[in-house]
Amino acid sequence: MLLATHLFACLAIVAGSAEGAAKRSASTTSSTKSSTTSTQPTTTSITISKVSTTSATIATTSSQASSTTSTSSVLTTLSTSTYSPASSASSTSSSSVSASTSVVGGQTVAQTILVFARSSAVAYSAYSGLEGYGIPYQVVLVPSTGITLPALNSSTTQGNYGGIVILSEVSYSYTTGFNSALTTDQMNTLYTYQTLFGVRMVRLDCYPGTTYGTQTAIASTGCCGTGVEQLISFTNSTGFPTANIKTGATMSTISMYHYPAVITDSTTTWQIAKFAADSANQFTGDTTAAVINNFAGGQQMVFFTSWATDWSPTSAFLQHAYIHWMTRGLFQGARKVYLNTQIDDVHLTTDLYQPSDVGSSFRISPEGLTHHISWMQNLNTRLPSGSNYKLELGHNGNGDIINATNIEYSATVDV
Ligand SMILES: *[C@@H]1O[C@H](CO)[C@@H](O)[C@H](O)[C@H]1NC(C)=O
Ligand SMILES: *[C@@H]1O[C@H](CO)[C@@H](O)[C@H](O)[C@H]1NC(C)=O
Ligand SMILES: *[C@@H]1O[C@H](CO)[C@@H](O)[C@H](O)[C@H]1NC(C)=O
Repeated sequence: MLLATHLFACLAIVAGSAEGAAKRSASTTSSTKSSTTSTQPTTTSITISKVSTTSATIATTSSQASSTTSTSSVLTTLSTSTYSPASSASSTSSSSVSASTSVVGGQTVAQTILVFARSSAVAYSAYSGLEGYGIPYQVVLVPSTGITLPALNSSTTQGNYGGIVILSEVSYSYTTGFNSALTTDQMNTLYTYQTLFGVRMVRLDCYPGTTYGTQTAIASTGCCGTGVEQLISFTNSTGFPTANIKTGATMSTISMYHYPAVITDSTTTWQIAKFAADSANQFTGDTTAAVINNFAGGQQMVFFTSWATDWSPTSAFLQHAYIHWMTRGLFQGARKVYLNTQIDDVHLTTDLYQPSDVGSSFRISPEGLTHHISWMQNLNTRLPSGSNYKLELGHNGNGDIINATNIEYSATVDV
């Protein structure tokens, strides 16, 4: 089922005005406490259909991206690697865009999203979603010894990146404690670039602190223990309307370590997602799960939870908020979600639960198929424009052989 198609196919993000100089503290000490890495549940088997049942009313569900670049080419270059959709250049310009840039200060930014991560495995949690949309990105792996920042702009009016994602604050345990491997000067350089070029930053897997206008809800305490549930849900999606995300729809955080927060600076910071009380009653009320900060024009979205799009439907769902917010809903490419219903073993006879009389069974008939066709056609009239839902029949022929030969189902004919 094609739920969301052709969301946007845009040429460029026009930079916002450089209103006010961002005077953000780049203090990393309060924000770099190491997050416990989330562990993959051994029994997890994520399927698109599973996601669709838990969030069926959400137009955008999972986007487990199919990698169009080979993993090795993304990851072997230690410092940087770039992915661009084959069909479009990452740097953008057009007459209509140029016309509107003067209104907002003359800056134009490339679409490419700059991703900072400690490792290639961690980076996947950001670039998988970007690939799902076809948004170009550049991964910068940041070892504990630090990096040299890539050139953020190539002129005073041409920005090289349309968004910045930092995973787990690229923090490491140093003799001085946990700290980001990006220096204070480098963070200030990023903040200045953001403000001058109207570029938004996203920080995933953060420990609440003053850098995000917050503190931990219970001092130094995260959540949760094994098997303890603390549901997460969006509370304010007005900053990313194109994501079509429903507020109040809860997702599980089991096996995703996270840090319930409270907002301490409501002049710069507002909540977009919350955690409910946890099932072990450690956190008895709602706490903040994610915020948007606006520091004099320098804008960032921060999530206080670990992130794992490789196995967590929760991460796969949450990411649509930041992708749409960071890009302001303007991005190259399009995202398509395929959901279908495959009916297996067509033409096999099936015993019925109801009526449960011994011997009552069902075998599909031409009349049954007629009903399915009219149901399918009717459903298509109610789905979003561009959708095309089809029932697929998995026809392996067993039922025909059994019917034709009158050999019982238990016989070896059932291959
Ligand atoms: C990038 O922008 C800053 C701020 O306008 C400017 O000082 C710097 O020269 C620019 N870099 C390049 C390479 O033009
Ligand atoms: C909801 O989000 C919007 C956009 O980010 C923001 O302007 C607004 O203040 C927020 N509302 C509340 C009640 O925090
Ligand atoms: C074969 O299928 C037809 C139609 O469903 C049914 O009437 C008939 O009893 C079946 N025969 C056998 C041997 O299962």
